[in-house]
Amino acid sequence: MQALVLLLCIGALLGHSSCQNPASPPEEGSPDPESTGALVEEEDPFFKVPVNKLAAAVSNFGYDLYRAQSGMSPTTNVLLSPLSVATALSALSLELRIKSSFVAPLEKSYGTRPRVLTGSPRLDLQEINNWVQAQMKGKLARSTKEIPNEISILLLGVAHFKGQWVTKFDSRKTSLEDFHLDEERTVRVPMMSDPKAVLRYGLDSDLSCKIAQLPLTGSMSIIFFLPLKVTQNLTLIEESLTSEFIHDIDRELKTVQAVLTVPKLKLSYEGEVTKSLQEMKLQSLFDSPDFSKITGKPIKLTQVEHRAGFEWNEDGAGATPSPGLQPAHLTFPLDYHLNQPFIFVLRDTDTGALLFIGKILDPRGT
Ligand SMILES: *[C@@H]1O[C@H](CO)[C@@H](O)[C@H](O)[C@H]1NC(C)=O
Repeated sequence: MQALVLLLCIGALLGHSSCQNPASPPEEGSPDPESTGALVEEEDPFFKVPVNKLAAAVSNFGYDLYRAQSGMSPTTNVLLSPLSVATALSALSLELRIKSSFVAPLEKSYGTRPRVLTGSPRLDLQEINNWVQAQMKGKLARSTKEIPNEISILLLGVAHFKGQWVTKFDSRKTSLEDFHLDEERTVRVPMMSDPKAVLRYGLDSDLSCKIAQLPLTGSMSIIFFLPLKVTQNLTLIEESLTSEFIHDIDRELKTVQAVLTVPKLKLSYEGEVTKSLQEMKLQSLFDSPDFSKITGKPIKLTQVEHRAGFEWNEDGAGATPSPGLQPAHLTFPLDYHLNQPFIFVLRDTDTGALLFIGKILDPRGT
């Protein structure tokens, strides 16, 4: 039987080279930080802005997907661009259900191309790899996993991200340092460091973790969750991840100066998210829609795959922190070393939309 494969390319977030103003404007409608302590828990005005509300909903899908995926991979890195998965799914469930001549609209709006596979696992893999290489300009590694032959429709979301810090790291300070994989095992990896980094910081005693936020160019920022103890079990933190929680954290972090070390990363991830989606009670995606109108055969979505690439190195826009960031005066030096398993959340600063999320257990990749 011939298989129909939808290849979908979404969210190719390549690094921005232009320097944008790192000082983001104050959020419209957000309460005065001085007065938040006295407010009772009401719906945050931030989420009353329609675009933020939409971003929060899509992001919550992403946090759920991440949680499910991470639960299935307790000992390996997880890297997701949930937006690319969400867009792929909505392309299927909306466009395809409505339009029978679906190829042109899909290709136009999402850069998608339905492909008919040959049935030869080797040729099909080559075809998909070539397509991904072309779409991602060679940024993603070629896959070696063959296409299982019981597939009817395979939906593939791919994304690549290369981050650029607002404040770049001095590459002369990068050196091989220990990264603790768990309580016993340690590996040496290239670590970037900044002895006088300006970052936003907070200690969460409920989650037993240290949270830090660093700005990236292109109105994005990254939040790190670093447990106080070395552990690969990050479930406590994972369970609390929602758009609302991250938004609250974002407001509570304080600008400080710290000794910062960050591993250089160049990771790729390849995983099936089918089971996670089913676990999230999205089974109906696989039961319907029925695509027989398209193919004349009763076929259904059987598999959803995700490939993601993610990297950061010393590159950044400027050599000094933006003058708008005034670190609070600390009586003790603060250390923030990402030298053990951690979670990162990459968001769009203005809307809070989740762009990438990852669990880094081993910065060398897995
Ligand atoms: C991981 O941590 C959670 C919460 O701290 C705990 O409930 C769970 O049993 C732990 N899982 C494993 C496999 O140790």
